[in-house]
Amino acid sequence: MKFAILKERRPNETRVAGSPETVKKFVALGIDVIVEKGAGTSASVSDAAFREAGAAIASDAKAALDGADVVLKIQRPMIEGEKTDELSNFSPGQILVCQMAALSEPEFVSALATSGVTGFALELMPRITRAQSMDILSSQSNLAGYKSVLDGAAEFGRAFPMMMTAAGTVPPARVLVMGVGVAGLQAIATARRLGAVVSATDVRPATKEQVESLGGSFVAVEDEEFAQAQTESGYAKEMSDAYKVKQAALIAETITKQDLVICTALIPGRPAPVLVSEDMVKTMKPGSVIVDLAVEAGGNCPLSLLGKVVSKHGVKIVGHANVPGRLADDASRLFARNILNYLTPMIGEETQSLKIDTDDEIVAGTLVTRDGEIVNANIPGAAAKSTEPAAAEVQPEAVGGEEA
Ligand code: NAI
Repeated sequence: MKFAILKERRPNETRVAGSPETVKKFVALGIDVIVEKGAGTSASVSDAAFREAGAAIASDAKAALDGADVVLKIQRPMIEGEKTDELSNFSPGQILVCQMAALSEPEFVSALATSGVTGFALELMPRITRAQSMDILSSQSNLAGYKSVLDGAAEFGRAFPMMMTAAGTVPPARVLVMGVGVAGLQAIATARRLGAVVSATDVRPATKEQVESLGGSFVAVEDEEFAQAQTESGYAKEMSDAYKVKQAALIAETITKQDLVICTALIPGRPAPVLVSEDMVKTMKPGSVIVDLAVEAGGNCPLSLLGKVVSKHGVKIVGHANVPGRLADDASRLFARNILNYLTPMIGEETQSLKIDTDDEIVAGTLVTRDGEIVNANIPGAAAKSTEPAAAEVQPEAVGGEEA
């Protein structure tokens, strides 16, 4: 069986879906690995390092794809009508494993089905204990949460920790984290390590204890709706208009005292909730900073602009694209590890092909297209019968911090 690792071509993508470590492990399992020339350059992995790990280097994407059974990528390939048609180089029957945004990119999913490629969307990984080591959303969000605090600190004209100096006392920065999932928890831990006074808000009740255990204070409207805001699969529901009004009033009151606001709130397959309105920005202290990690899903602040740092009403609003890609080396290694952990159980002893066992909830949950059809019931237009999403055993992600 042959695996191909392609160079990423979407704007702002610096990561690569393989690492020398994972290549070595695939090769040890009897797999031929072909890496497209330069695929790892922006993640500080040279062709020589991939070659040393046992991969062959192909001169371009076409050559890497030639005869490949399984194709590993970070982002879904571009399709006709985008800058480069990457999908046209694929052959029917090939297996693609990558992050697809399958719930929000129906055009891509139908192009993939038409191309006859079997597609696995890693972002659809069920949130069960067995899948934790395969979960790209966790591994990448964790790094993004860390980086968001550093990006915010770099734009902030003051220090984070309290400092008592001969020239006077520097007060600690006040940080509010909105959305306490994987990214939010790491943002809390990172801001605490830098010495900030941290508070955080979420709509899922389980987050209260997590925030407090990291040394933050919890701010939320804790009504009946809040008590039921977590779905079976561990994600947040979209809240009612009445809840949003109460939440906005509480945030409006809290935000005026903050120096840095880190926005991470997301609802899978839906636009990000708007939590920081322009009117709230107007009430913030001059020089404060908002880092909107949700900017790619529309943003938690309507003033954030994808790929830009803008100043509005005296507040800097940071909307960097692809924040995990700003730590391309670590992000690639963890992403590649997630893929290795995901594919290893599917590689049989013969290693001639992947065993696609749709009775396995991890395989069924992530399989999107097969034999020219959309086969995932969660995707609009799917041929498969609708099934209930798997019940999740939600566990807080370890955020690793000595002060945690
Ligand atoms: P996410 O990236 O979808 O959302 C980020 C956060 O935003 C969530 O905590 C969500 O509750 C919050 N949010 C959504 N709407 C909001 C609103 N209107 N106001 C305030 N906050 C709002 O979530 P993420 O980070 O992917 O994780 C969600 C949960 O799943 C976490 O508890 C995490 O520990 C768990 N998880 C479990 C895994 C497993 O068991 N395999 C793997 C990864 C995460």
